[in-house]
Amino acid sequence: MDLSNRVAIVTGGARGIGQSIALRLSEAGASLVIADLGDATAVVEQIKKNGRQAIGVVADISSAPDAARVIENAVSTFGHADILVNNAGITRDQLLMRMSDDDWDAVLRVNLKSAFLCSRAVLRPMIKQKWGRIINISSVVGIVGNAGQANYASAKAGLIGLTKTISKEVASRGITANAIAPGFIDTAMTQKLTEEQRDAIKKGIPAGFLGAPEDVANAVAFLASEEARYITGQVLNVDGGMAGAWM
Ligand code: NAI
Repeated sequence: MDLSNRVAIVTGGARGIGQSIALRLSEAGASLVIADLGDATAVVEQIKKNGRQAIGVVADISSAPDAARVIENAVSTFGHADILVNNAGITRDQLLMRMSDDDWDAVLRVNLKSAFLCSRAVLRPMIKQKWGRIINISSVVGIVGNAGQANYASAKAGLIGLTKTISKEVASRGITANAIAPGFIDTAMTQKLTEEQRDAIKKGIPAGFLGAPEDVANAVAFLASEEARYITGQVLNVDGGMAGAWM
């Protein structure tokens, strides 16, 4: 997968799956814009040490001005914006009966609205250059649901509808939009779980183990490549067989 001369924007790329995606895309030759609420200096330095280019932009990508600023930064620094990975996400789990309005709104805003805002901002440069890749990080939970995650599952299911719609609107412009639905991946998000919960989860994964961030990053690199030019509007499960086992 050769991504030389491509500029990739990864939201939530300061740690976890996003960090792994940023490193993988840079390894393939892309220049990186890492947008995160937190400081992405460590990832940026690592990419530079490997001889590639990267900048970090501190931003709340669920705010329209910040999302627009991230894309503007990509274009003003590197001249174009080719690959957008909408990866930033949060959880605020609670059974629906006890879920607060705030927890619903926050999760929908960060997981779903931010992808709308960043996609809207990046489409203009992508349409101009007649090439683009939008990759949305959804979740297995958006496909099969999960008790205690009404907000998160709704946002992740919404991302799938958004992906399919974008793919239809811009397929004729050389732009593809796809979603990846990871299962349980070993990151800060899942390390919050107790050992007991993790053991129970493993029993529901046909592969028998939690995925690594790199498993998701490799799928992103493929969908971002020229080789994937005829794949759009799809959801790629990266879940050790989980979704298939539940449906
Ligand atoms: P994480 O919690 O380790 O990292 C998320 C990153 O997003 C953090 O760096 C955080 O600062 C950033 N972020 C959060 N809100 C933001 C905002 N408003 N603006 C900018 N940056 C923001 O999460 P993880 O596990 O790496 O997950 C990444 C994505 O993968 C998320 O969308 C998550 O829902 C999804 N996912 C994760 C799974 C897992 O098992 N870890 C499974 C399925 C999907």
